Amino acid sequence: MIALTAAEITAATNGTLSGIGPEHVVTGPVVTDSREVLPGGLFVALPGEHVDGHDFAAGAVTAGAALVLAARELPGLPCVVVPDVERALGDLAREVLVRLREAASMPGGSGLQVIGITGSVGKTTTKDVLAQICGAAGPTVAPVRSFNNEIGLPLTVLRADEQTRFLVLEMGASGPGHLTYLTDIAPPDVAVVLVVGQAHLGGFGGGVDGVARAKAEIVAGLVPSGTAVLNGDDPRVRAMSAVAPGRVVLFGAAPDAEVRVEDVRLDAVGRASFRLVHVVGRERHEREVELRLVGEHHVHNALAAAAAALSVGLDLDDVATGLSAADALSPHRMHVVDRADGVTVVDDSYNANPDSMRAALKALAVIAGRERRSVAVLGEMLELGDEHRAAHDAIGRLVVRLNIGLTVVVGEGARAIRDGANHEGSWGDEVVLVDDVDTAAAFLADELRPGDVVLVKSSYGAGLWRLGDRLVAGDA
Ligand SMILES: Nc1ncnc2c1ncn2[C@@H]1O[C@H](COP(=O)(O)OP(=O)(O)O)[C@@H](O)[C@H]1O
Ligand SMILES: [Mg+2]
Repeated sequence: MIALTAAEITAATNGTLSGIGPEHVVTGPVVTDSREVLPGGLFVALPGEHVDGHDFAAGAVTAGAALVLAARELPGLPCVVVPDVERALGDLAREVLVRLREAASMPGGSGLQVIGITGSVGKTTTKDVLAQICGAAGPTVAPVRSFNNEIGLPLTVLRADEQTRFLVLEMGASGPGHLTYLTDIAPPDVAVVLVVGQAHLGGFGGGVDGVARAKAEIVAGLVPSGTAVLNGDDPRVRAMSAVAPGRVVLFGAAPDAEVRVEDVRLDAVGRASFRLVHVVGRERHEREVELRLVGEHHVHNALAAAAAALSVGLDLDDVATGLSAADALSPHRMHVVDRADGVTVVDDSYNANPDSMRAALKALAVIAGRERRSVAVLGEMLELGDEHRAAHDAIGRLVVRLNIGLTVVVGEGARAIRDGANHEGSWGDEVVLVDDVDTAAAFLADELRPGDVVLVKSSYGAGLWRLGDRLVAGDA
């Protein structure tokens, strides 16, 4: 964080200062976990579900925290006391960003640009790819993993400083108003909307159109002359140009997309190559891109990252080079490992919804090809509301259509995958239902043989990432 006095933090958060003088300086970092405190830092005491941050405040100060942001006075500790710590964290991030923008626009300033990314699927991947492209061009701050909510976003903003040229933010939404809250803290210069899929239908109301309305908030939340980077292939996303305050850049395969993909090919391990086309007026510029990310669905994320990078002024050569060099930085995302015993593990267990399940299963079928046995280990997709059964059933049917060799359905919540497969004509041997991750691990330890390609996937909450780790390590 940029250095702020206790008085400035108090003013930004509408708090009251206790236990320390107003001139006391805080330099950051800003953390919510007392184990991550560094000298001069700000410890944010959040009331958690299981633990209360206030219980760790004394330890944080002992570890060097210069100040605690707290919901109540903590005798003997330097604090700013606020009614709502989460809101105050957002208020502080907003104030810091205002100051950073001021500094950035001065002569010799960094020219800071804020890029916000939302969509039902692909946010983290796009964020990681964009952060790598931007990182090659200038100082870049981007979220750790999936820090995309009302806590993770301000924490990310607060990592930026006067040098930061690109601030890449992932913006998640599981209901109306969520993105407005986030853009109110960090109005983007460039807002990217990837896709309006079926993810998290549970929280939105109004079905997929409700999701679209909620995602459009990021476009409405742009700075006055900001650029909307929209998926030209998704009609609901394209329609968001109606609320764009300024320039609109479409990306996709659509003929009128300014940043376009042509001629997609997949190699034997499921990595896509394509022609990246940038249409500028009547001119057409093109470059070849070879992704290292596995799965055709990442073409779309790569294209979104390219469109955002071009929108902040990077040139096409750097964008194409950056795309071809980019890796999936966050764990458990189409992470492909060839084990010594000849089994290939595709660990995509970070999260799942119907769109990403389909994409991963198709990638599995491509990687296995004709020679190798494909094994899909699938757990429950959460937050689907009324769609839950039908969505799992459809995945079961797809497994049969893709000719997946063996499907292991993990957990009662995912049972409808097996039922769907059975209805589609699976005979039972190719699809088994097991109770939990441990049973799945034991079953696979016995069942897997050299040459098999194993995909692991579920929603985060269903916990198959634990199995992903074990399979990659070779102990399942
Ligand atoms: N465009 C896409 N279509 C289908 N699946 C996708 C797409 N982009 C990413 N995925 C898959 O969805 C899962 C989540 O990806 P991630 O980038 O973490 O998205 P998010 O941050 O939006 O949850 C991963 O399994 C990934 O491989
Ligand atoms: Mg994410």
